[in-house]
Amino acid sequence: MSILLLVPPGWGGLWQSPLSVGGRKVYAHGVDPYDPAEIVYAVSFRPPPGLLKSLPNLKAVFSLGAGVDGFLLDPDFPKDKPLIRFVDETLSREMAQFAVLHVLMQHRTVAHFAAAQAESTWRQRMLPRPTEETRVGILGLGEIGTVCAERLRDMGFPVTGWSRTRKSVEGVKSYAGAGELDTFLAGCDFLVCVLPLTPDTRHILNTETFARLPKGAYVINIARGGHVNEPDLIAAIDYGHLSGATLDVFETEPLPETSPIWKHPKIIVTPHVAAITSPTAATRSILSGIATIERGEEPKNVVDMTRGY
Ligand code: NAP
Ligand code: GLV
Repeated sequence: MSILLLVPPGWGGLWQSPLSVGGRKVYAHGVDPYDPAEIVYAVSFRPPPGLLKSLPNLKAVFSLGAGVDGFLLDPDFPKDKPLIRFVDETLSREMAQFAVLHVLMQHRTVAHFAAAQAESTWRQRMLPRPTEETRVGILGLGEIGTVCAERLRDMGFPVTGWSRTRKSVEGVKSYAGAGELDTFLAGCDFLVCVLPLTPDTRHILNTETFARLPKGAYVINIARGGHVNEPDLIAAIDYGHLSGATLDVFETEPLPETSPIWKHPKIIVTPHVAAITSPTAATRSILSGIATIERGEEPKNVVDMTRGY
C-alpha cells in the first residue's frame, strides 16, 4: 500500500518521511522509480494531467490544498475515486489572519502614516470611516470564509457572507444564491473572495459585479486568480469606482513579469501565500483519511464532483 507524491521538484522531502510511518513506501513522482500498480493513494495539489488515471489500484486522492481546481482541470481525473480536500483549522486561521491584515491596512490607513513617517511629519488623522460603519462582505461562507467572517466580526465590523446555501453564523448576515448576489455586493465596503473556483464562479468578479459594489470599495482576492477578470479590475480601479485591491492569486501564476498588476499603485500583490498548507497538519489529515478508508469507512471532506468543490 504505497503513496505517490505528485509535487513540484524539491518538495517531496517535506512529505516523504512524515507519510512513511509504519514502513509505508512513499514515492516522489519524477524522482523515485515506482511501479504504478503499487500505488494506492496519491497526494498532490496540481497533478500532471492523465497521470492519476494511469494508476490501476488507486483508492483515493488527497489534495494538499483546500481548493481542488488543479485536479479538476485534468480531463482524465478518475472521478469515481474519492478526492479528499485539505480542511484544517490552521489553514482557516492563516487565511483569516490575511483577510484581517489587509482589511485593517486599508481601514487604519497604514499607507498614510508610512508616507508621513517618510517625511518625518506628525500627520494625525481620524479613521476615514468608523469601524461600525465599514461593511465587510465575504464571498464564499464555507470552512475558511466562516472563520474570516468571525474574526472580522469580532473586530467590530458589520459582516455579511454570500454562499450557495443559507448559513447561520452568529452576527453575520447570510445571503444565498445568484438571486441575492447584487444585494450582498451593494453592502460591501470591503469584499473578501474565498470561493472555490468552479465553472459557476469563474470571473465572478468582473465589470458588472464591480459596478454593484459601493463607490470606493476595496477588493481582496485570496481564493483563485480565475475569480477575477484582471483587466476589468484594473479598469474599475483606474476609473475610480474601486479604491484598490489586494491580490494573492492570479490567472497565471507566477504573475508574469509583464503584468501591469505588479506596478499598479493601488494593488497589493502577494505570491499565493495567504495560507500555506502546514506539512504537519496535512500529514495528520492524510494519515487519518487513509486509516478511515482502510477501516472501510467514508472519509471526511470528499469533494462533490457535480458541484466541483
Ligand atoms: P468550502 O468550505 O468548500 O467553501 C466554499 C464556499 O463557497 C461555500 O460557502 C459555498 O457555498 C460557496 N460557493 C461555492 N460555489 C458557489 C456558488 N456558485 N455560489 C455561491 N456560493 C458558492 O471551501 P474553503 O475550504 O472555505 O476554501 C475556499 C477556497 O479558498 C478554496 O477553494 C481555495 O481556492 C481558496 N484557498 C486559497 C488559499 C491561498 O493561499 N490563497 C489557501 C486556502 C484556500 P455552500 O456552502 O452553500 O455550498
Ligand atoms: C491553497 O491555495 C489552497 O487551496 O489550500
